[in-house]
Amino acid sequence: MEKKEIYVSTMMEKLRKNLLLPDKAYFFDTTLRDGEQTPGISFTHEEKLSIASSLNELGIDVIEAGFPVISEGDFAACRDISKLGLNSEIIGLARMKKLDIDKVIEADMDSIHVFIATSELHMREKLEMTPQEVIESIAEHVSYAKDHYEKVLFSAEDATRSDLDFLIKANKTAIEHGATRVNIPDTVGTISPNAFGFIVRQNYEALPKNIRIAVHCHNDFGLAVANTIAGFENGASEAQTTIMGLGERAGNASFEETAMSLYALYQVPMNINTRLIFPTAKLIESYCGGKIKIGRLQPLIGQNAFAHESGIHAHAMIKNARAYEPITPELIGIKRTDNVEEIVKQSIKLGKHTGGHALKAKLEDLGIHPSDEQFQKIFTNVKRYGDKGHEVAEEDFLAIVKDVMGELPEEEQYVILDELTVLTGSITPTSTVRLKIKNNGEFIEKLASSTGVGPVDASVKAIVKCFEPMSRVKLLEYNIDAITGGSDALGNVMIELMDLDTHYIVTTSATHEDIVMSSVLALLKGLNKIQSYKQTEK
Ligand code: KIV
Ligand code: ZN
Repeated sequence: MEKKEIYVSTMMEKLRKNLLLPDKAYFFDTTLRDGEQTPGISFTHEEKLSIASSLNELGIDVIEAGFPVISEGDFAACRDISKLGLNSEIIGLARMKKLDIDKVIEADMDSIHVFIATSELHMREKLEMTPQEVIESIAEHVSYAKDHYEKVLFSAEDATRSDLDFLIKANKTAIEHGATRVNIPDTVGTISPNAFGFIVRQNYEALPKNIRIAVHCHNDFGLAVANTIAGFENGASEAQTTIMGLGERAGNASFEETAMSLYALYQVPMNINTRLIFPTAKLIESYCGGKIKIGRLQPLIGQNAFAHESGIHAHAMIKNARAYEPITPELIGIKRTDNVEEIVKQSIKLGKHTGGHALKAKLEDLGIHPSDEQFQKIFTNVKRYGDKGHEVAEEDFLAIVKDVMGELPEEEQYVILDELTVLTGSITPTSTVRLKIKNNGEFIEKLASSTGVGPVDASVKAIVKCFEPMSRVKLLEYNIDAITGGSDALGNVMIELMDLDTHYIVTTSATHEDIVMSSVLALLKGLNKIQSYKQTEK
């Protein structure tokens, strides 16, 4: 059994030598500030306190509790989270305005995050300030913040669309006036990893080495995590992220993906208790009230993140789980058993890619031991259903198995379906069946047609007609159920059939995605049972 929780690639080890990876990664969580700017999301006061406590337990270094000047609610949350006495540093956001800075001080927060835009576009259109006025504002307000705070973080908003020399000048001005950390935001998510890495490295080289560089990336092009990692490869040591990647527009860099990439791909030490990653994400998801959900395909925490359907994958997984899973799910707090084979059985999703090994493991797990013939039938049915684009849900799978296991072996069958043709629509439903029926040990072919009120009725009547010389039967009960939702779901038909000569009653069921087929198969099973009973009674 593979004990390692991560697989370390030798390629990455070689690559590390050319990178400026930090000795330790710090995490600045902005779920309560940038994350709460997700359209439609608004946490209650109690939820904010609970989120802050969970982030603290997770090992987050800095929690951005809010932007206290913007509302009474934000102010109260910042004040009350600061009172919790958490290990995490509680930071408050402020524009380059004394009023904003005073609100952070009034909320009694541990440290302050001041920001102003430095891109030409933002300075001209939003701030209506010249670059020189922006530099003066940084000098004045960072100094003001420094009078009250030891730890001052400065962010140059829209840094990635700023002139690089001007960005470095803004950062240097902030540091000269007391900033102890600088953050490089990709505010509109408009940079690529290589370009972002270049910007971060230029800053790293130009700024004093005792200054911690943070990166803050938005996900407009789906590059937020990749850009954050590129920042770390080039001198950054703090990631500003949100749980589940919450945030304005397409969101911020996801904490889960950023932390685990740094941990699993580069083994960068951090204060994070990785085993709390999944539970924390689920908690925040629950506070989003169904408005934002963890996506099925979401890396690491999505429902499919540790699920395997392909037979080749499942087979290799049984031998060594790291073959197709980069980390153990337990590492991020997804609970599964310690036994790799168990893990594989639990996580194998059945569908069109299911291989024989995966299916055998699943059946054994359920304590079902089919004959070779039955196994082949189950296999074919799972694949046939999967081929139609379905993931075979547990209930569907059990119905398929029950169906096959309840069938008589081929050599013991008396009636076998050869062909079924159904005409339905605006015409009178008509069904034609061709059956093979065993008579004195020999199969003879029987063909019959019938009309009915619907296609099922017509097919049942056609089969009964074929069968009449051997047995007169009556359908006592007919029930149909869709096993899982959707118009393409498997239909399960249960029938009760009476042999009118012996009054013997049988109950059978069959499952198929075509309800006419499930009805016909259930009826044939019933007829087989009746014939088999009659033979043993002789
Ligand atoms: O995206 C951004 O630029 C921000 C800043 C306030 C850091 O959220
Ligand atoms: Zn942001």
